[in-house]
Amino acid sequence: MPSLLSRCNILPIVLLASLGNCEIDRESIVRQFNLRLNQSHPYSPVQVGNGNFAFGVDVTGLQTFLPHNTLSSWGWHNSSLPTTPNQTSISDYTGVDWWTHGRLVNYAQPNPAEKDIGQWLISNPHRINLGRVGLWFGEKNVSEDALQRKSQVLDLWEGAIFSSFTLNGSRVEVETVASPESDTVAVEITSRLFKGGELGVFFDFPYASGKNKFDAPFVGIFNATANHTTALKARRHGATITHTLDATTYVADITWESDASIARVSNFSHRYVLKPARSEDTLTFTINFAPRTVERSGTFEDVKDNAVDWWSDYWSSGAFISLPTSSNSSAKELQRRIILSQYLLAVNGAGKDPAQESGLVNNGWYGKFHMEMVFWHLAHWTLWNKWSLYDRSVGVYERFLPTSYDRARHQGYQGARIGKMSDPTGRSAPGEINSLLIWQQPHPMYFAEMEYRKFPSKKTLKKWDRILSGVADFMVSYAWFNETTKVYDLGPPMYPVSENTNPNQTVNPTFELAYWRFGLDIAEKWQKRQNKPVPATWRNVRDNLAAFPVENDVYVLYEGIKNMWATPATAEDHPGLLGIYGWLPPGTRLNLTIFDKTVDKVYKSWNFTYSYGWDFPLLAMTMARLGNAEKAVDWLLDPNNKFNEVGMPVGGTRVPTPYFPASAGLLLAAGMMAGGWDGLEGPIFPKGWDVEVEGFSAAM
Ligand SMILES: *[C@@H]1O[C@H](CO)[C@@H](O)[C@H](O)[C@H]1NC(C)=O
Ligand SMILES: *[C@@H]1O[C@H](CO)[C@@H](O)[C@H](O)[C@H]1NC(C)=O
Ligand SMILES: *[C@@H]1O[C@H](CO)[C@@H](O)[C@H](O)[C@H]1NC(C)=O
Ligand SMILES: *[C@@H]1O[C@H](CO)[C@@H](O)[C@H](O)[C@H]1NC(C)=O
Ligand SMILES: *[C@@H]1O[C@H](CO)[C@@H](O)[C@H](O)[C@H]1NC(C)=O
Ligand SMILES: *[C@@H]1O[C@H](CO)[C@@H](O)[C@H](O)[C@H]1NC(C)=O
Ligand SMILES: *[C@@H]1O[C@H](CO)[C@@H](O)[C@H](O)[C@H]1NC(C)=O
Ligand SMILES: *[C@@H]1O[C@H](CO)[C@@H](O)[C@H](O)[C@H]1NC(C)=O
Ligand SMILES: *[C@@H]1O[C@H](CO)[C@@H](O)[C@H](O)[C@H]1NC(C)=O
Ligand SMILES: *[C@@H]1O[C@H](CO)[C@@H](O)[C@H](O)[C@H]1NC(C)=O
Ligand SMILES: *[C@@H]1O[C@H](CO)[C@@H](O)[C@H](O)[C@H]1NC(C)=O
Ligand SMILES: *[C@@H]1O[C@H](CO)[C@@H](O)[C@H](O)[C@H]1NC(C)=O
Repeated sequence: MPSLLSRCNILPIVLLASLGNCEIDRESIVRQFNLRLNQSHPYSPVQVGNGNFAFGVDVTGLQTFLPHNTLSSWGWHNSSLPTTPNQTSISDYTGVDWWTHGRLVNYAQPNPAEKDIGQWLISNPHRINLGRVGLWFGEKNVSEDALQRKSQVLDLWEGAIFSSFTLNGSRVEVETVASPESDTVAVEITSRLFKGGELGVFFDFPYASGKNKFDAPFVGIFNATANHTTALKARRHGATITHTLDATTYVADITWESDASIARVSNFSHRYVLKPARSEDTLTFTINFAPRTVERSGTFEDVKDNAVDWWSDYWSSGAFISLPTSSNSSAKELQRRIILSQYLLAVNGAGKDPAQESGLVNNGWYGKFHMEMVFWHLAHWTLWNKWSLYDRSVGVYERFLPTSYDRARHQGYQGARIGKMSDPTGRSAPGEINSLLIWQQPHPMYFAEMEYRKFPSKKTLKKWDRILSGVADFMVSYAWFNETTKVYDLGPPMYPVSENTNPNQTVNPTFELAYWRFGLDIAEKWQKRQNKPVPATWRNVRDNLAAFPVENDVYVLYEGIKNMWATPATAEDHPGLLGIYGWLPPGTRLNLTIFDKTVDKVYKSWNFTYSYGWDFPLLAMTMARLGNAEKAVDWLLDPNNKFNEVGMPVGGTRVPTPYFPASAGLLLAAGMMAGGWDGLEGPIFPKGWDVEVEGFSAAM
């Protein structure tokens, strides 16, 4: 029901008026930011996709000159296991034991004696590039420089790319769309060059590399042709190419409408060329990628119609912001980022698993996703009321519950300990930081509560009940009662949000303390809403957690940290401690006097040169809560928070590009400023900005 109410187009006028909803001319605002390009971007493709699948293109509308990637939720590959003696199977990996409050706890960390199997577990499985599709210019060697009058438009409202250019006087027009329902690209190409036999389409299939943590901009190896196989099975108006890389097999099914034929270029390559009959000047085809069974997705027109419906519905549903773009260049740039982020997150960040930081553009961390980043990938949908997209991957907590319980049990804790750098099976890759980070634990509480505020039903309570209980049990069991101070400590060993401290010395970090209390509060509410007893230990730990660490009247990263503000390494990276007011609602222990001073201190002493990604939205949310909308906008538009011409966030030197938590964080911060939060109604934007918003949920 609520999803119906948040849709604009289908509401009767009376209801519309009574809701004060959907008066913004969304279509013209969205189209104002259509991409208009005239050359390929070597690093940032233009993309079509559906959240589980994306296809990146160069200026030709295909992958003609640049082998941009075709990535999916399901396409993964394992390299062969190491042959090193005693490291030949997963069970040979034992991790390391670290002292943890008087006992040895086993952590999934690299063990020098098990280097090869440890590295295998980090880099496998890795996400694979499913294939390359490009224009074939006969025997001629055509480079992008040979094309004239290049033009490319991404129509955001329809999710379609229109590309055109002239080659030796002949115009070539290419339209590219992706199916919202299956992992299919549909293409229409029009050119006289077909008649001369000078134009066709090639398909090529790479081997998986698995060697590089950040596999960018192009994933896979096209010249290791002996290491994998492809097999063509042609039929009338179609063909199936089965690609086998070791244990991974999948199918590319190509269908076309007019007369055309397909053949392999040579026995020693995995390149195939589709050539239309010389009587044609239009070629339409679809290519569907699937793990095994072939899903016929209809003609180009069918796929295009579905895509247009899906995208116009996407833009019309949920929330929308209209900023004063004609009179104010900051507002215009913020609006551009908001619109392009909405497009890119629906393409790259709405799959069956949480997104990887670089989405489906290229591979960061071997294509795996990080459980602490789920917050930054998904939370914005809840404010923007795009629940169906949020729901696609939030089930990861339920799916990973068994492995989360195993992880906690193995370490002698109660409950369910959520992992970190994950593949779809729920295995968390070995890593010192991976095994010692804790801020991913309360995320389910945040999501559950946002969902319950919107859908206060038994169904919501049931959906999250087992997860919240399991995670709360772990959080409580993890907290350590300090007999000297009579409070519960978090860590050591642990890594805080910023991952830049000595884990054996890190205890009671400010943000994690706040998040533990916040999470246990919600876990308690959840029990009460179901008339279930609240375990006494949950309350006891929540009420007796250590106080926020304060030094010279400002909050510090963790208790006992020395010279935090003078040490470059600890006054840089994520300023997580500001998250206790802004990202999180104010908890009972927050002292705003101290917090204000902390903000000043961060402003004066932080090394923002090294800030990236969600740091800027985090700062913006803090400034917005403090009532400073001007400064909030400044942070979102900070010179270090760069979004390039295709709307991809490209700031940051130590992380993959694009780094989509910056996009999702931008929408979270903008959504909070638009929809307000408990105690303050939105919109909250700089004075003098003429802002219209509709359809938002308030933040906590
Ligand atoms: C390509 O686009 C850029 C940016 O809009 C513009 O400056 C340039 O003149 C264009 N080049 C051509 C050949 O149209
Ligand atoms: C890779 O190997 C792991 C461990 O055996 C297995 O769980 C996983 O399903 C494999 N993935 C692929 C894509 O082969
Ligand atoms: C492999 O394990 C066996 C039995 O534990 C041990 O004797 C042997 O030294 C190990 N070999 C290597 C190369 O580590
Ligand atoms: C932390 O302590 C463990 C022993 O419990 C030790 O093996 C490890 O090297 C220490 N790590 C650091 C970063 O000091
Ligand atoms: C095609 O042209 C490019 C640059 O124009 C050149 O680098 C490449 O070697 C040529 N390839 C062949 C096969 O001639
Ligand atoms: C363009 O036309 C010229 C002259 O007809 C010819 O030599 C050349 O090969 C053509 N180039 C391409 C890329 O078709
Ligand atoms: C593939 O290309 C890479 C990079 O150019 C080169 O180093 C490698 O030797 C090539 N491999 C084969 C099998 O040709
Ligand atoms: C391809 O297989 C050969 C022989 O097994 C191996 O040496 C080579 O490293 C493989 N290439 C890649 C890219 O994995
Ligand atoms: C390519 O493979 C086919 C089928 O196996 C074979 O008949 C043909 O002779 C091969 N061609 C070359 C050039 O090796
Ligand atoms: C208890 O807390 C104090 C003060 O934070 C600390 O110095 C001490 O190491 C803690 N005790 C244990 C056993 O962790
Ligand atoms: C907040 O901290 C300031 C500075 O330490 C202190 O003076 C004040 O009493 C604190 N306020 C509360 C409500 O605890
Ligand atoms: C701030 O961070 C940048 C980027 O990491 C670094 O180059 C610079 O030295 C740092 N500045 C200070 C004062 O530490």
